[in-house]
Formats: sequence, structure tokens, C-alpha cells
Amino acid sequence: MNIIKNLQWRYAVKKYSDEQVSEDKIDEIIEAINLTASSCGIQPYRLFVITNPEVRQRLGEGSFNAQIHASSHLLVFAGFNEITTDYITEYVEMMEQQRNLEKGGLKILEDTLIGYFSTHTPGQNVIWSDKQAYIGLGTALIAAAELKVDATPMEGFDPKLFDEVLGLSEKGLHASVILSLGYRDAENDYLASAPKARLPINEFSTKIN
Ligand SMILES: Cc1cc2nc3c(=O)[nH]c(=O)nc-3n(C[C@H](O)[C@H](O)[C@H](O)COP(=O)(O)O)c2cc1C
Repeated sequence: MNIIKNLQWRYAVKKYSDEQVSEDKIDEIIEAINLTASSCGIQPYRLFVITNPEVRQRLGEGSFNAQIHASSHLLVFAGFNEITTDYITEYVEMMEQQRNLEKGGLKILEDTLIGYFSTHTPGQNVIWSDKQAYIGLGTALIAAAELKVDATPMEGFDPKLFDEVLGLSEKGLHASVILSLGYRDAENDYLASAPKARLPINEFSTKIN
């Protein structure tokens, strides 16, 4: 099983080489994230793909994670602050078009979603959006491993600084989690040759037949 081999190969890289990831591979990873599942299917987060060195230098200020600036690409998963009625309506309209349905063909879904989110507080929406963003993160990790691109998921960053530098609040977004992409510097990364530390499968999972 290639996927298991590739997941054994991957680890959260601490030190990257200067090698850049091709735009083709980056685009495949972005597409994989776009294709992943989200609750209610409304993709309540956006992805920023950052290579600009000055922007990345600023984003990394005060963080212990050098990978924020010292890697090929930085992905920022930015969750929605609110789930608005307008967003739901526009998204459902897009679904109708893509599924060749007449306008209003998914009205029941639209009304259900609007009703559901009207009971959420803004705080609940932020938590819910973050959860969906993390599903994107998981998919990105698998996609990167399949392409033999190295990656580091990170929560060690300053979300306020990210909001400020990327202007996220104006866009109704906040930084949920980030991911650097690149190629490991195997000689200088102390984790590059460390065996994986994981629970035995039988302790981790239970099959109920
Ligand atoms: C949500 C999340 C946040 C993480 N934050 C950081 C981080 O800020 N810096 C870092 O070097 N690694 C971070 N990691 C990497 C984990 O420490 C790493 O995945 C874990 O130790 C398992 O090791 P492996 O991924 O190398 O197999 C994070 C991982 C996840 C999933």
C-alpha cells in the first residue's frame, strides 16, 4: 500500500532545504484540499498560498517555527468568522448550477442551512469553521506525502499578526492553522532520521464486529 509507505515517509519537518516545490505540485495539493469534505459541504474557510519572502518574514516574527519563512510555500487555512445567509444562498446557487438543477432546486437545503446557522453564536461558527479547516489540513498532509513533498502543520504562530498582515478580518476570516511545504534538509534536520513514534494499532483502534 503506497499510501502507508508515503505516510511513514512523511514527518513534520523542522528544517527545509532551499529547493522549491513546483507550481504543478502546489496546484495538485490545493486541488486536493478543495476536493475534501466539509460539514454541510459549504467550505467555510479559504486558503492563502504565500511565497512572498517579506510577507513570510513578517508572519514568522516572534514564532519558534522558522518553517513559516524558511520553506518553499506557506499555506494559511483561514476560517470564516460568520456563516451568513448571503453566503449560504450564493453557495447553494453554485451547487444548483454545477449539478444542472433549476434555480431553487435546492431550496430545502438552503432553508435548512440558514435555519441551522441562525441558531449558532459567532463563537460557535468560528469553532465550526476551524474544524472544517483542519479537515483541509489533513487532506493537504496526505496529498503532500503522496507527491513526496515535505510539510509541517503548525499551530505555533500569532493569529493576530496573521490577521493584521494578511488583512483577514476585513475579509471576514481568521487564521485557523498553517502548513509549510518544501523539501527536508535531511542532513541538518534532527528529526529526519528519527523513527516514527506511534501507538500500537490495537491500542489506537478498536474493531467492533
Ligand atoms: C494541528 C497541528 C499543529 C502542530 N503545530 C506544530 C508547530 O507549531 N510546530 C512544529 O514544529 N510542529 C507542529 N506540529 C507537528 C507535530 O508535532 C507532529 O505532527 C507530531 O509530533 C507527530 O510527528 P510527525 O508528524 O513527524 O509524524 C503540529 C501538528 C499538528 C497536527
